[in-house]
Amino acid sequence: MTPAPTPAHGEDKMSHGSHPARFDDAPHGEVEIPEYFENPGHPPHVLRWSDVDPAAARRAERQVAFLFLLSILGTLGFIVAYFWMDQEATGVIPGIGTQKLYHFTLGLTMAVSLLGIGFGVVHWAKTLMDDEEVTEERHVLEADGETRRAFADTVAEGLESSQIMRRPLIKWTLGGALGLFALPLGIQLVGSMGPLPRNDLAVTMWKKGTRLVTDPDGLPVKAADVTLGSVFHIMPEGVMEAEYPLNEKAKASVLVMRLNPSDIKSEKQREWGYEGIVAYSKVCTHVGCPVALYEQQTHHLLCPCHQSTFDVTDDCKVIFGPAKRPLPQLKIAVDDEGYLTALGDFSEPVGPSYWEREL
Ligand code: FES
Repeated sequence: MTPAPTPAHGEDKMSHGSHPARFDDAPHGEVEIPEYFENPGHPPHVLRWSDVDPAAARRAERQVAFLFLLSILGTLGFIVAYFWMDQEATGVIPGIGTQKLYHFTLGLTMAVSLLGIGFGVVHWAKTLMDDEEVTEERHVLEADGETRRAFADTVAEGLESSQIMRRPLIKWTLGGALGLFALPLGIQLVGSMGPLPRNDLAVTMWKKGTRLVTDPDGLPVKAADVTLGSVFHIMPEGVMEAEYPLNEKAKASVLVMRLNPSDIKSEKQREWGYEGIVAYSKVCTHVGCPVALYEQQTHHLLCPCHQSTFDVTDDCKVIFGPAKRPLPQLKIAVDDEGYLTALGDFSEPVGPSYWEREL
């Protein structure tokens, strides 16, 4: 049996007349001729009010512009709320309950901003853009030069048929709405990154004469208590009782270890410690996790977050991991009663790197 002939490229299988299509060159009797459905054609075209009434078109234009203006107001409202609204104020919102008004207002203004653009464009397309019905023949989809030129022509025609060039009111309000709409994204990106550390990490609660006490018991530590291989988690004396903010306590936390003085490689490290006892900030210089794992055989301190490893015998320099700076050392001494005390604050900011750190 001879296979049924395939329609040539571009040939429409649907009949465009009232009779079903046939492959005329197919020898009757040898092939089974398929039955095709009739092309129902397009329903009659219905003109819109704005197509026949210039006043209706102008009214539609004003409605579109109003929606874009609404979007602009939503965006401006967002900016005002973001910077000037009380972030803690609460209120009862019908159907929702008690909410923080700040977040509710940000969401509401952002919604108005988006919906204004969305509704405006839809209304514009439905009332003013050309309403022609177009029949497109099937063709091979390939991006040859002719297709690209046709696409460019289509874009130009679209611009023309959207009437944007002839309706400056829409052009400028849409431009304003779209231009301003990008602002909250940028503002949120920059404004929501959190405060800069400024001097916060450069000053801790350590002062000259402050005793080193255990965390969390608050017991002062005598030099004689720190034996070889032991490690103490330390805070400044008084911090445990007082109502200090948590971040103040966190950045003052220190680790104290005793090394064999002959193992210490750096002269500065030896001088800043006491008979082999050294104190280092516990705040990792990568992103600030507590460095809490001490390996007494190797004298390595390990940060559990991303495995930065510091060599306690060599000024707590980084020997592995993403941290870039050694842990800052706290200068210590011993008071008249034999207790370990600080000789002052750290000489450099504790914790992670940040832009103005070197300043
Ligand atoms: S925070 Fe310590 S290694 Fe990342």
